[in-house]
Amino acid sequence: MNFTHAMTRKPASSYLQAITTSGLGLPDLDITQKQHHAYIQALKLAGLSVNVLPALEDYPDSVFLEDVAIVEPEFAIQTRPGVLSRRGEADQITSILTQSFPQTYSIEAPGTLDGGDICKVENTYFLGLSDRTNLAGAQQLAAILQYFGYCSELVDIRPLPGVLHLKSAVNYLGENTLLMDPRLADHPAFQAYSRIVVPIGEAYAANCLRVNDILLVPDGFPGTLELVTRAGFNPMLLDVSEFRKMDGGLSCLSLRW
Ligand code: GLY
Repeated sequence: MNFTHAMTRKPASSYLQAITTSGLGLPDLDITQKQHHAYIQALKLAGLSVNVLPALEDYPDSVFLEDVAIVEPEFAIQTRPGVLSRRGEADQITSILTQSFPQTYSIEAPGTLDGGDICKVENTYFLGLSDRTNLAGAQQLAAILQYFGYCSELVDIRPLPGVLHLKSAVNYLGENTLLMDPRLADHPAFQAYSRIVVPIGEAYAANCLRVNDILLVPDGFPGTLELVTRAGFNPMLLDVSEFRKMDGGLSCLSLRW
């Protein structure tokens, strides 16, 4: 995992209207901005050049930039978010993708796909089927990935209550190791990997983010912190409480390539 670039989008003041099922209350906008700033600093510390896009007031969820594109240095794919209130977010990134990547593609109707459902593990992409990403969207993505030499495999997360996206429940840490929600630990798709299972009560911490030599870990999950530290990763704690309130996590706050 060797990233040189990232893109983020500033939280809008409309962020209070973002979609949420968390039941954790409304975010504080000042704290949200501070946590977002700290996140950008962490990406820079990991060696990335970070492009910070302006806030989109019409799209309360637009800070969760990862959902609108899949990026590799040689190509980018604009997604078609699965929830109507977010669909226009993808159009807001078209020109940036065209400027920043040699080839661009897009997911077309009837396909829907959220970037949060896409988990890259070395040369394989796991494609989550969820309430946001449908089979048509996943198949379109798989065809583009195959063209560029990547394998892909479907993982249906719809039977898992409370899991919004695939990466809410499983993330690649590097070193052939996945960090995962206990409910996915026995899934056949993941048996070839070392698996670190987050403790009961720490499901949110399955969304850690490896960026070069650093593993970003959400603050407040001591069991997970201990497990990844003992496994030899280099954790950096970040407080993302205000993003958790709106069903967001570390991975969905940026695109990395
Ligand atoms: N609030 C993040 C999402 O629902 O996509």
